[in-house]
Amino acid sequence: MLLKNCLYRRLSLTTFFVIYLVVFARAQDGSSAVLAGFHSSCREKLLNMLPDSSVAVFFSAAPKNMSADVDYPYHQDADFYYLTGYREPSAVLILLKLDYTSAVLFVPPRDTASEIWTGRRMGVEGAKKILGMDTVFSLEKIESYNIDNQYIKHVYIKPLNEYNSGSRVAGDLSKSVMRKFQASGIKPDESLLPSLIPVLRAVKSEEETAWMKRAAAITCDAQKELMRTLDTSMYEYQAQAVVEYVFKSEGAEEPAFPSILGSGENSCILHYESNRKKMQGGELLVADIGAGYRGYAADVTRTMPVNGKFSAEQAAVYNIVLHAQEAGINACRPGVPFGFPGKVAMDSLAAGLKRLGIIRENDELRKYIPHGISHYVGLDVHDAGPADTLRPGNVITVEPGIYIPAGSPCDRKWWNTGVRIEDDILITGAGFEVLSAAAPKDIPSVEALMRKPSRIRGR
Ligand code: GLY
Ligand code: MN
Repeated sequence: MLLKNCLYRRLSLTTFFVIYLVVFARAQDGSSAVLAGFHSSCREKLLNMLPDSSVAVFFSAAPKNMSADVDYPYHQDADFYYLTGYREPSAVLILLKLDYTSAVLFVPPRDTASEIWTGRRMGVEGAKKILGMDTVFSLEKIESYNIDNQYIKHVYIKPLNEYNSGSRVAGDLSKSVMRKFQASGIKPDESLLPSLIPVLRAVKSEEETAWMKRAAAITCDAQKELMRTLDTSMYEYQAQAVVEYVFKSEGAEEPAFPSILGSGENSCILHYESNRKKMQGGELLVADIGAGYRGYAADVTRTMPVNGKFSAEQAAVYNIVLHAQEAGINACRPGVPFGFPGKVAMDSLAAGLKRLGIIRENDELRKYIPHGISHYVGLDVHDAGPADTLRPGNVITVEPGIYIPAGSPCDRKWWNTGVRIEDDILITGAGFEVLSAAAPKDIPSVEALMRKPSRIRGR
C-alpha cells in the first residue's frame, strides 16, 4: 500500500511535471508564434497592396524626454509595431517587393553596458527568434546595406511624424536610407503609406478582435468596480487608482490613454486628465477609460453620480444621451457611411435637448457637444482608418455626450452637467457587436451597482 502510494505519488508528480513542461512550452511557443504569424500576415497584406518593383521604409518611434534624465515610458509607432511586433527604439524596417518579397529589419545590437540601465534588449538574434523575421541586421549595417536600385521603380517612406522627427537617431537613419535611393534618381513618395496602412489597420483580424475583446472586458470590469467603490470621500485620482488597479490586476499592461475622471465642472472638459479635484455629492463623474491589452486599446465611457443617485436634471440629460447612443449603435452596420451612426445620434441629441428647452434650433447643438461621435479604435485609441464606409472587422466608438458648463445660455439648473456614454462596436457581417456591453449604462442598473459593496475597498 505504502509502496503503491509512493509510486503513485512519484508517477503523478512526474506526470504533472511533464504535462507542465508540454503545456507551458506550448503556451510560450504558441503565443510568440501567434504574434510572429500575425505581424508577418500584416506585412504580407501591405506588400500585396504595393505596386511591383517597390520598396517601403518605416522608422521606429523615438523615445521622448519628460524632463532631465527621465523619459516617458517608450511607446512604439503603431504602424511599426503592426508590421513587426518590435517595441524598442532606433530600428528601421525595409519591405521589398521585387521579383521576390522580403522584410529586412535593422535593430540596435545588444549592449551589456547600456542594458544595465535599460534592461535586456532584443538585439539581432532576439529579433529573429521572437519576431520570427529571417532577415535582421545590426543597425550600423544600414549604411552598407546594398539595395538593388536598378530593379526598383518606387520608393515609399513613412514620413517621420512630429513624434519621432525630433530624434537624432531617426533623423540620421532617414538620411542614410534616402541616400541609398538618390543615386538612382527615384524620389521617395511620402503619401502612399499613410493612406494604405489605415485601410489595413481598420479591419481587425481574428487575433486583433480577440485582444480587443479582452481589452474591452477588462475596461468594463474597471467601470463596474468604480461604480461599486465611488463615494463622496474620494478625489478624482482615487477613482483613477481604482480603474488602473483593475486594469493591471486583470493583465492589461497599461492604460491605453490617460484616464479621464472628471467630476462636477470637470465633467464638461472633454479631455480632462489632471484628476486632482475632490469629488462632491450631487456631482456627476465622467469616467472615460481604456485598458491597453497586447497593445490594443479599449475606450469606454460611463457617467455616474458621485453619491450614487442621479438628480432629476442629471437623469433627464443622461437619458437623452443614452437614447442617442443606443440609436447611434443601432445604426451601425456594414455598408453605411462612417459618419452615419454619428449623424443618427446627433439628430437624437438635438431632439432631446429641444424637448428639455436647452436649445431651440439644431445649430445650437454644437455648443453642447463640440466633439465627433465616432472614431476607430485599435492599436491607437483614435485609430487609423478610412472615413468612407463601415466594413466587417472595423471597431469604432459611439460616444455622444452633452456638456453644459456654468454660464451656458440655458436655465442654470442644468449647469455643470456633463454626460458622455461610449461603447466600442465591432462591425460584423450581420450588423454589430457591442464589445463593452458588460458595463451597465441604464440608470436603474448603474444605481443598483453603486449600492453594491466595493471589492477592493473592503466595505
Ligand atoms: N477616450 C478619449 C477620446 O475618445 O477622445
Ligand atoms: Mn473615444
